[in-house]
Amino acid sequence: MISDESIHYHTLWYNPFNAASLEPRLTMTTQQPLIAELHATARDAQAQIAAAHDTGALEAWRVEFLGRRGRLSQAMQKLGGLSPEERRAAGAEANRIKGLLEELYAAGQRALQEQEAARKQAADRLDVTLPGRPIALGRLHPITQTVRDICAAFTSMGFDVAEGPEVEWERYNFDMLNIPRDHPARDMWDTLWIDWADPTEEGRRMLLRTHTSPMQARIMEKAKPPIRVIVPGKVFRHEATDARHEWHFYQVEGLAVGKGITFADLKGTLYEFARRIFGPDRRVRFRCDYFPFVEPGVDMSIDCFLCKGEGCRLCGDGWIEIMGAGMVHPNVFKAVGYDPEEYTGFAFGMGPERIAMLKHGIDDIRHFYANDVRFLRQF
Ligand code: PHE
Repeated sequence: MISDESIHYHTLWYNPFNAASLEPRLTMTTQQPLIAELHATARDAQAQIAAAHDTGALEAWRVEFLGRRGRLSQAMQKLGGLSPEERRAAGAEANRIKGLLEELYAAGQRALQEQEAARKQAADRLDVTLPGRPIALGRLHPITQTVRDICAAFTSMGFDVAEGPEVEWERYNFDMLNIPRDHPARDMWDTLWIDWADPTEEGRRMLLRTHTSPMQARIMEKAKPPIRVIVPGKVFRHEATDARHEWHFYQVEGLAVGKGITFADLKGTLYEFARRIFGPDRRVRFRCDYFPFVEPGVDMSIDCFLCKGEGCRLCGDGWIEIMGAGMVHPNVFKAVGYDPEEYTGFAFGMGPERIAMLKHGIDDIRHFYANDVRFLRQF
C-alpha cells in the first residue's frame, strides 16, 4: 500500500543513489518476521542500487532482488507457511515491496541512460563562447610593399611585369648590353662569379646578376616590339656593406621599345611614376650620366620632399637621385637582332630599397635584411 507520504517523497525515491529515501515508504512496520524480512530486503536493495553505476552492476542487482531465485521471491515462498491472516498482510506487503523494487529498477535504468547521454553530450560539447585562438597576422616586407607599389604605378601605365634568373650568363649581364669583356665599364659592377663555365663555349661564364638589365636582352631576344615591361628582381654585388650599400638588393628594370619612341616619352613616363610614388607636386630633374647600354644616358632625381628642394640633411642640394635611365643603345638592339633604324626605346633601372628609405626616412639599408621584427613591424 503506497501511502500519501510516498508521493511526497517521490523525487527522492526516484533517485536510486539516495539511500535514505526508502525509509518513509516502509512505515507499515509490524512485528511479523516475514514483513521485517521484506523491509530489510527493500532497504538492502535501496542501499546496493546506489553502487550500480553500469548496466552490468544493475543487472546483478536485478538478479539478486527481483530474479526468479532472488531475495524477494525467496521471501514470498515463505508465505505458504503462514496463517491465513498473517499471509494476507504479508502478501500485500510483499506485492507492495515488489512494486517498489520494480520502480527502483526502472529508476536505475533511467539514471544509467541519463548518465550515458550526459557523458556523450560532454564528450561532444562545443563551447561556442570560447574565444578563438588568435592567428598571428604576418605582413609584407617593406621592400615587397615598395616593389608592389612601383609595379602598380607602371602596370597602370600599360607595362607588363616579367621576372628573370638571378644566376645569369655573362653574355646577358654584360656582352649583349654593350659591355664587352675587358671593357673598363665592367668595373661599375663588382661581380660575384659562379665557379663554373660552359666548356662547350668559350667565354660562357656564369655570375650572380649585378643588375636586372640582362632581362632587357632576354625579353627583346624573345619578343617583337612594341614592348613595355618592367622587371622586379634581386641583384648581387661583390661589395662591402655599409649604411648605403648591401651586397644583395632589389632593382626594378623598365623597358619600352617601339617605333618613334623618344626621350620625351622617357621623361613623361618617369615623371608620372615619380608623382605616383612620391606625391603629386614632385618635380624631377634629369642629368647626363653614363651607362654602356643607353645613349644618351641620364640619372633622374626628384626634388626633396622634406625640404621642398631648399637643401637639407637628407638631400644635400635639394635633389634626390632615384634611378638611372636612357635611350636604348643601338648596339643593344643589334645584339638582339633589332634594326636600330626601325626601333627606338628607353630603359631605366631603380633600387626599391633606396625608394623605401626615402619614403620612410630609413637611414641604413641593412635594416631591411637584419630580420629584426621590431623594425619590420613598423611598415
Ligand atoms: N642597370 C643599371 C644599374 O644597375 C641601371 C640602369 C638601367 C641604367 C637601365 C640605365 C638604364 O646601375
